[in-house]
Amino acid sequence: MIPFFNRNKKPKVAEEKKSNCDIEHIAIIMDGNGRWAKQRKMPRIKGHYEGMQTVKAVTRYASDIGVKYLTLYAFSTENWSRPTDEVNYLMKLPGDFLSTFLPELIEKNVRVQTIGFIDQLPEHTRKAVLEAIEKTKNNTGLTLIFALNYGGRKEIVSAVQLIAEQYKNNEIGLSEINEQSFSDYLFTKGIPDPELMIRTSGEERLSNFLIWQASYSELVFIDTLWPDFDEKALDQCIEIYHSRHRRFGGL
Ligand code: FPP
Repeated sequence: MIPFFNRNKKPKVAEEKKSNCDIEHIAIIMDGNGRWAKQRKMPRIKGHYEGMQTVKAVTRYASDIGVKYLTLYAFSTENWSRPTDEVNYLMKLPGDFLSTFLPELIEKNVRVQTIGFIDQLPEHTRKAVLEAIEKTKNNTGLTLIFALNYGGRKEIVSAVQLIAEQYKNNEIGLSEINEQSFSDYLFTKGIPDPELMIRTSGEERLSNFLIWQASYSELVFIDTLWPDFDEKALDQCIEIYHSRHRRFGGL
C-alpha cells in the first residue's frame, strides 16, 4: 500500500516492467470505499475521495506497464438510489479528478472515454468528462474508460431497441445480426473485451458491469478495499490472471 502522505507521487516502475503487460483490457469494479471510511469512523464521501486517489495511482501504473484499456465502474445506473449527498459527491468527483489530473493524463498520452448514459448526468459532470474526452481524443497510449451511469442490462436493451428500429426501417436484415455486429451497438464498440475483471472488497459478483463483454473474462476477487488498492495489488491480480488457463470453451 502506498502511504497516504505519498499517494500523489509517481511510483517508480522497474524498467523491465514497463510496457510489457500482455493484458490489453482490465476492467475494475472499485468496491469498498464506504467500508474503508466506516472503519475509520469517517463519512462515506471520504472513502470516495480516497478512492479517487487510488484511481490516479492505478491509472499511472496501468499506463506505465502498457495496459491498453482500463475500464473503471465509477457510477452505476443503480447508484442513483443512494442518499442525495452521496450521489452529489460522486457526481462532483469526475470534475475534481480531471481538474487535478488532466495535465498528467495528457502528458502520459492517456485517452479518456466514457461508457454509460452520460446524457442523464448533471451538466457539470458531463461537461468535465466531455472536455477531457475532447482534449485527449488523439492520444494513443492507455485508454481510460469511466463507466458513468452505466448498467449492463440497460446497455443491452438499448442495443436491442436500436437494432429493432433499424430492422423495422429495412436498414438491417436478420442474417446481419450476430455476436460481432451486436457488439457494435454497445457503448464498448471498437474496444476489445476485458481479459481481466477485478472486483475489490471481497464481494464476488458482477453487479451489472459489462455483462455482455465479460463473458470470457477472468474474474479476480480481492479482499482489499478500493482506497487501499495499489500497484502491488494490481500486480497480484495480474499474477492470478496469468496462473489461469483460458480455454474459451475448448480443451
Ligand atoms: C463502491 O463502493 C464505489 C462506488 C459506487 C463509487 C466508486 C467511485 C470511485 C472509486 C471514485 C471514482 C473516481 C472518479 C475519478 C470518477 P461503495 O461505496 O459501495 O463501498 P461499500 O460497499 O464499502 O459501501
